[in-house]
Amino acid sequence: MQQKKGKFVPGGFALRIGRSRAGLGLFAKEPIKKGACIIEYVGRELSEAETYTSRSKYLFEVSKTKTIDGSVRSNIARYINHACKPNCEIEIRKSRVFVMAKRNIKAGEELHYDYDTEYFDEHIKPLGCRCIGCKPASEEKTARRVLAVDTESLPRGTKEKSAVALVR
Ligand SMILES: C[S@@+](CC[C@H](N)C(=O)[O-])C[C@H]1O[C@@H](n2cnc3c(N)ncnc32)[C@H](O)[C@@H]1O
Ligand SMILES: [Zn+2]
Repeated sequence: MQQKKGKFVPGGFALRIGRSRAGLGLFAKEPIKKGACIIEYVGRELSEAETYTSRSKYLFEVSKTKTIDGSVRSNIARYINHACKPNCEIEIRKSRVFVMAKRNIKAGEELHYDYDTEYFDEHIKPLGCRCIGCKPASEEKTARRVLAVDTESLPRGTKEKSAVALVR
């Protein structure tokens, strides 16, 4: 779809939620040009107390005094995963969060941005970053082969999903 005028007006691009190497992810269904505003990350603004107590994995610190919880259904930007060499970047404009294309993006590509260090250290690092740069496709294949071997020795009826959890 044609991008509307204005740097911070989301272009209405066709996007889809799908399975990714890091759980669910958000994918472009059409090419997106470098610099385009793809989508706004929206959510409910938290009170100061909630900022410290919330365990949501969709928190976004917009400024020192404003944090939003993006777990609302309408916020499909919440499915965008982290990558160390991403194709998108965040721009904050008047306390609103926009996901912008850092380079030209092809149809079918998954969208990523670089989460900040605090979020990365707390939520990604302990389990290991699964972005393409940190975990190349060849390693993903190895994990799948291990899964094939492991499932043979598992008790009958073990679901593939739980076996995947075993090899990750
Ligand atoms: C905002 S959510 C992204 C959507 C998420 N994949 C889902 O299925 O709901 C952030 C969470 O996704 C996972 N995640 C995102 N990027 C990741 C990455 N590069 N490596 C591993 N896990 C990642 C982590 O569990 C993180 O807490
Ligand atoms: Zn990474």
